[in-house]
Amino acid sequence: MAAVPLLSYPVPHAAVRFGLGLRRRVQALADWMMPAEAALWDHLAGMQRARLAGVLVTSGLADAIGTGRHDARELARRLGLSAEVTLRVLGAADAARLVELDGSGRVRLARLGGPLRGDHPRSIAAWAAYQTSAMNLAAYGQLEGQLRGGEQPSGHRLAFGNSIWDYFAEHPDEGARFGEAMRQLTTIDVGALARAYPWPRQGVICDVGGGIGTLLAAILARRPLARGVLIDAPGVLEDAESFLRAQGVLDRVTRQPANLFGGIEAQADVYVLKWILHDWSDQSCAQILGGLAAAMPPGARLVAIDQHLEPDRPSPISSMADLLMLATCEGGRERSPDHVHQMMQAAGLTPGRVRHAGLHMLVEGIAPAESRSAT
Ligand SMILES: C[S@@+](CC[C@H](N)C(=O)[O-])C[C@H]1O[C@@H](n2cnc3c(N)ncnc32)[C@H](O)[C@@H]1O
Repeated sequence: MAAVPLLSYPVPHAAVRFGLGLRRRVQALADWMMPAEAALWDHLAGMQRARLAGVLVTSGLADAIGTGRHDARELARRLGLSAEVTLRVLGAADAARLVELDGSGRVRLARLGGPLRGDHPRSIAAWAAYQTSAMNLAAYGQLEGQLRGGEQPSGHRLAFGNSIWDYFAEHPDEGARFGEAMRQLTTIDVGALARAYPWPRQGVICDVGGGIGTLLAAILARRPLARGVLIDAPGVLEDAESFLRAQGVLDRVTRQPANLFGGIEAQADVYVLKWILHDWSDQSCAQILGGLAAAMPPGARLVAIDQHLEPDRPSPISSMADLLMLATCEGGRERSPDHVHQMMQAAGLTPGRVRHAGLHMLVEGIAPAESRSAT
């Protein structure tokens, strides 16, 4: 029997919050067992643990270890790494519970390190490499500047002088790694997201800023009579071709290069904005939503998918995603369903239902039944 991915069904938001709350209490208990300064010292080593996870991926060590147990010196020789430094890095990775290193210098990936393998069924290897990249560390390095100067410019812009999207266009390797990170994270959620919303059985679903089409392909796989439109930057859409072909949906997807900030003309029954609004300020979202509302046929629906973050309720995961948006995107932030509905309403859409899949909210907006141009 094929294994069912853990989160392929929408987990109720309350259950996710309960689970995360419980984990937080266990972690607090572990901290409480130590003097505060010792527990804090360990928290400050979080930066080192994150870098270790990233370097296990980028050095090739995680993939080389794979599912086996190997002599660390032999691995270092095979990968052209310093044996001495490899042993020290793996020792620290053992302390971080990413690997298990035995007394004879043999290493295997621990449970926590498993998803650092590219071929792990729920791999987040590219995400680990992206999140801990020199580019992102430089952006996080500007946090004090943002504290003093405000959310804009982003940490990324303070460090590099451009937006993260322009940076990716100038550094295609980093753009491709980001794209792969998005694919991996979306793949984990895709089953639940595909089930959490009543996607139309027929008609057209348009994924705006849909990356290589990870979510669109999963929806179309469940809706054999539906067609898709995938909108993103031209370079991203080139990468999408092989992915959509491999998913068996290429012939049902029209790839349309377009700018989020104007020029979206696709006619569809449902439009999707997944992890798009959280990349942008309210002002930019108003532009994106206004442009989409103008293109949407009467009665068409828009589904905005982001992590749910209430302003007065910090969340162990969504609050960290919010910090990432602060550091890397211009005015980006995680929002509450009410906030998204207010932005949709200001763009002329009627607020619809709010659904959840785990930490994700699917916030609906509906184009008025009467065509605005007819009034
Ligand atoms: C955070 S990623 C989300 C990708 C995808 N929706 C997902 O959830 O995996 C944001 C996407 O927006 C695209 N994007 C950014 N700025 C854009 C613009 N001005 N016009 C079109 N697409 C843009 C990026 O190329 C990227 O694929």
